[in-house]
Amino acid sequence: IPVAPFVLTVFGATGDLACRKLLPALFRRDFAGQLPDAATIIGVARAAMSRDDFLAMVHAAITKYVPASETTGPELDRFLARISYMAADAEGETGWTEFAAALSAYAEHIHVHYLATAPHLFGPICERLGRYGLSKGDSRIVIEKPIGKDLESAIRLNQTVGMIFPEERVYRIDHYLGKETVQNLMALRFANALFEPLWNAAHIDHVQITVAESIGVEERGPYYDKSGALRDMVQNHLLQLLCLVAMEPPHSLEADAVRDEKLKILKSLERIDETNAAFVTVPGQYRAGACDGIAVPGYAEEITDRASSTETFVALKAAVANWRWTGVPFYLRTGKRLQQRSSEIVVTFRKVPHSIFNSNSGKAVQTRLVIRLQPDEGIKLWLMIKEPGPGGMRLQYVPLDMSFAEAFDVSVPDAYERLLMDVVRGDATLFMRRDEVEAAWRWIDPIRQAWSQMNEIPRPYVAGSWGPSAAIALIERDSRTWMEDA
Ligand code: BG6
Repeated sequence: IPVAPFVLTVFGATGDLACRKLLPALFRRDFAGQLPDAATIIGVARAAMSRDDFLAMVHAAITKYVPASETTGPELDRFLARISYMAADAEGETGWTEFAAALSAYAEHIHVHYLATAPHLFGPICERLGRYGLSKGDSRIVIEKPIGKDLESAIRLNQTVGMIFPEERVYRIDHYLGKETVQNLMALRFANALFEPLWNAAHIDHVQITVAESIGVEERGPYYDKSGALRDMVQNHLLQLLCLVAMEPPHSLEADAVRDEKLKILKSLERIDETNAAFVTVPGQYRAGACDGIAVPGYAEEITDRASSTETFVALKAAVANWRWTGVPFYLRTGKRLQQRSSEIVVTFRKVPHSIFNSNSGKAVQTRLVIRLQPDEGIKLWLMIKEPGPGGMRLQYVPLDMSFAEAFDVSVPDAYERLLMDVVRGDATLFMRRDEVEAAWRWIDPIRQAWSQMNEIPRPYVAGSWGPSAAIALIERDSRTWMEDA
C-alpha cells in the first residue's frame, strides 16, 4: 500500500549511512510499489555537486547494495528521477535559502528531514531548519545514534532538537527495532497464549542476548575509538532488545504504550557502578587473529593507536529489579571480530521440578527458546523428546525449528525500509522516545565511570574467538554457559 506523498531530505547524502542504508532502502520500497508517484528525495551535503554526479553516486550505491535482480529493470531509472541534490552548509548559511525555496514547492507533501550526518551537526542543522521555517506543520526530523555520548550530552542534544521540533515529530532511530525478528519478539510474546504465562522469574532461569560481529571497526575508527562497544551497541541496541524481552504487555501497539513499558524496564535496571562493575562487566579488545578464515590485525593496529583502551567487546550481567524478573540474570554480550556474525536472544527455562527419568535416559537439559535475529532469522524451541526406537526411554534434545526463509517465501526487508516508511506514516512505535534514551544513558554512565575509576583495561581476545576468557568466567561463575549458535 503506497504511503502518502512525501519529500524526504537526506542531510549527509554523500555519506556512508545514506549510501549503504538509506538510499538502497528507499529504492527497495519504491521497487515494492510503496512510494507514491509524487514521492521526492532531496540529497543535501556540503560539497557543490551537479545532480548528474549525485545520481551517479546513488546509482553506484544501489547497484552495490541491492541484489542485481532488482536493479536491472526500469525501476532504478524511475527511482533516480525522484532525486535531486542541493549543497548547503550545516554550520553556515550557504544554500539554505535555496533549499527552503525548493521545499516550498511541496506544500502538500509530508516533509521528512533525515540527519545522516556526523552527530555534531544535528544541533546546527536543527537550528537552521527552525530559522528557515522548515520545522513547521507536520514536518518530521529523524536522528540516528549516537544520541549523545553520555547523559549530559544526550540531554543537551534532546533540548536543542526539542526547541525546534516537538517530541511527537522527533524520530530517533535504533535500527535494531526495525529488524523483522525484533518486531517478532512482540508477536511471539503477545500473540501466543503459550509463552506469556511462563514469562517470569518463576519459570525462566536466565536470558542471554548476544550481538556478535565478525567485522572489525572498518573505516569508522575515529568515531569508534571515542565510542567503544558499550556506547556503540549496549546503550542502544542491546538495551532495546532487553526491554522488548522484559517489558510488561503494553495495552496496545500505540507508540507511547510500548515506549512507556520499555522505559519502566530501563528504570528498573540495577545500577552497575564501582561497587560491582568488576564482578558483572568485562570489557575486551581484539588482538590479531583470523576471522572467516582471513588473518586480521588487532584493533590497535587497525586504528593505528597502539595505546587505545577502547573496548571492542563487552559482556555484562544485568538485573531487572521488578516483580516479574527479580533473580533472573540477563547476560548481554557484544563484540567486533568475534567468531561469526550471529545475533540471538536465548531464553532458558528452569529445570522441571522433579525428573521421572533415570540417568540412562540422557542428560536432563532445560527448555530453551532461541530467537535468532541474524543471519538466518528464525525461532527455535529446544525440547526434550523421546528418541524413536525400542531401546527404552532415551531422551534427546531436539528443536522445533522455524526458519523465516523457509516459512515465508519473501526476502527479509532491511530494517531501514520499515523504519523510513513508519516515519512517513507517522508511526513512532519503533523509535526511541527522549526519556528512553536518557534513561539508557543514566544506566550506562556509571559503568563507564567505574571502568575509568578502576583503570579497567579491556581484556585482550584473539580476533575470531568468542571474546576474552573473563567473559566466559562471568557466566560460568553462575554455573551457566554462553550459547553459541543455539
Ligand atoms: C551500528 C553500530 O549501530 O550497528 C555498528 O554503530 C555495528 O558498530 C552495527 O556494526 C551493527 O548493525 P547490524 O544491523 O549489522 O547488526
